[in-house]
Amino acid sequence: MQKIAKSVPACYNKPMKRSWLDGKTFLISGASSGLGRGLAEKLISFHDCRIIGIGRSEKKFEDFVASLKENADKFSYRVFDVTDEAKWISLARELKENGVKIDGLINCAGMLPPFRSAVKTAVSDTEIVIKTNFLSCVYAVNAVYPLLAASDTPAIVNISSAAALATIVGTSAYSASKSALKSYTEALSLELRGKVYVSLVMPGFARTGIFRLQNTSIEDDKLIRSFCMPADKMTNKIYRGLKRKKTRMVIGKDARAMDFFYRLFPKPTMLAVKAVLRRAKIKLFEEVFDEE
Ligand SMILES: NC(=O)c1ccc[n+]([C@@H]2O[C@H](COP(=O)([O-])OP(=O)(O)OC[C@H]3O[C@@H](n4cnc5c(N)ncnc54)[C@H](OP(=O)(O)O)[C@@H]3O)[C@@H](O)[C@H]2O)c1
Repeated sequence: MQKIAKSVPACYNKPMKRSWLDGKTFLISGASSGLGRGLAEKLISFHDCRIIGIGRSEKKFEDFVASLKENADKFSYRVFDVTDEAKWISLARELKENGVKIDGLINCAGMLPPFRSAVKTAVSDTEIVIKTNFLSCVYAVNAVYPLLAASDTPAIVNISSAAALATIVGTSAYSASKSALKSYTEALSLELRGKVYVSLVMPGFARTGIFRLQNTSIEDDKLIRSFCMPADKMTNKIYRGLKRKKTRMVIGKDARAMDFFYRLFPKPTMLAVKAVLRRAKIKLFEEVFDEE
């Protein structure tokens, strides 16, 4: 009987699909922890990217570098405060002088101030939030754009928040900063259409260190805990969106619900969220309602 040669299915012979991310160099602010660190890790291990991280804590960077083991040489960092525009300008100058090619900028550094009513929030505190969450991104884009423009796949990714989709009581400064970043990113996206991949990321709650300034741990509250996404899951969703060059990402049940209901019924949505938070007596929002 004639033997039939077993053929290897064609799909097994295909070379691994290349991604636009392979071998690129990214600048990531807030790469010392949370989502920024997670993204840096994935870009290095899955795409052999080179990452230059920015943050204030040298210790966090040292820990991250140690965790990268044989990939440690793919990550370098600069310790500075992203609210200092001069630091962005000198970083861009240094990279240009050293002939470093930059393909992407991920603005991920950010802070979440304590939940508090707007009139009880000091102007100086609001200024810090606006500078950290919004102006730092403008400084970064303006300083780094000439370098990015030389890349054949330039990318700008701004990590805003679901707080830019529907405002929650007690988050005036944070929501204002993230809404400003949303509008700024949308304008960038329109202006650079066809030249630069611009992405606006709006995550809902994720379990990272961002809650460190709050009066309580998010783990203490059942309602918040129920929709707070694990940090790694959130990072993974952002990473997958980047791979597919998604220009708008609304991530998490809470973010998607806010997006949907706010579009249909803006005021009732905000009032309903306020009522739920007040009735649920969530410790995180205690100060907001105490001060009414
Ligand atoms: N986690 C959430 O629920 C959530 C939801 C929506 C949006 N986001 C946004 O996601 C981004 C990442 O936050 P995360 O959740 O990963 O929080 P995280 O773990 O606290 O990370 C924040 C990062 O930003 C850096 N950073 C903060 N202020 C800085 C400053 N002035 N100068 C330089 N670096 C600064 C921190 O570095 P150093 O400590 O070294 O300064 C840290 O690496 C933020 O923009 C946040 O608003 C988070």
